[in-house]
Amino acid sequence: MKQNYENYSKEDQEVWQLLFKRQKENLNLKGSEKYNECLEQLSSCLNEKAIPNFEEMNHFFKSKTGWQIHVVPGLIPVEEFFDLLAEKKFCSSTWLRTREQIDYLEEPDMFHDIFGHIPLLLNPTFSKFAQSFGKLGQQYKGDEQMLLNLQRIYWFTIEFGLIKQNGELKVYGAGIASSFGETNHVFDSKLTHLKYDINEVMACEFHTDIIQEKYFVINSLEELCTSINNLSRQLKKSA
Ligand SMILES: [Fe+2]
Repeated sequence: MKQNYENYSKEDQEVWQLLFKRQKENLNLKGSEKYNECLEQLSSCLNEKAIPNFEEMNHFFKSKTGWQIHVVPGLIPVEEFFDLLAEKKFCSSTWLRTREQIDYLEEPDMFHDIFGHIPLLLNPTFSKFAQSFGKLGQQYKGDEQMLLNLQRIYWFTIEFGLIKQNGELKVYGAGIASSFGETNHVFDSKLTHLKYDINEVMACEFHTDIIQEKYFVINSLEELCTSINNLSRQLKKSA
């Protein structure tokens, strides 16, 4: 599958500009410095001027990180998703929300997939974590409980993770970073901010249809790498 760039309308381009500008400003103070640094590094091919061209982006992205954007029609089976992650291919759809959907989506669009997920993959530590996570998933194909545990890790880190930076909470998960509302919501003191512990995360249910009430907070991206390596070792031992 490919992105058909000519199919985007003037209205699509305007929606992209609006989304990008509003959320980049919002993340200036609320986004983690690692995410913001990476977004800056991508600015020649990912910016508010126009919807990114995946071919151009891949050129830069692959040479810099070894990762590539892999176009998918929408949500794909979890096993296939793990295979792609293990090969350093990150899935993205090519459709963009309409102006009416600007603050609510039932399925991820390309603003979520690209603006939310791609930047941090430029960070070598996060890149390692994402690939290790994919490789671990590959080893547990068909194991329903383990796949559920891994989906929970994905949900509470790559999608909805928070990081403590100089004593302050900041956003690094793509589900938050690509959402104006969620970025402003996560700091609410009535919400539960738990210290990240991979075993606790695996035991924690999540809901995709309501705004989050519980977040896990890491102290550094290295913590993600260490936790996935430890889990992998722990699983090998108990096998
Ligand atoms: Fe996502």
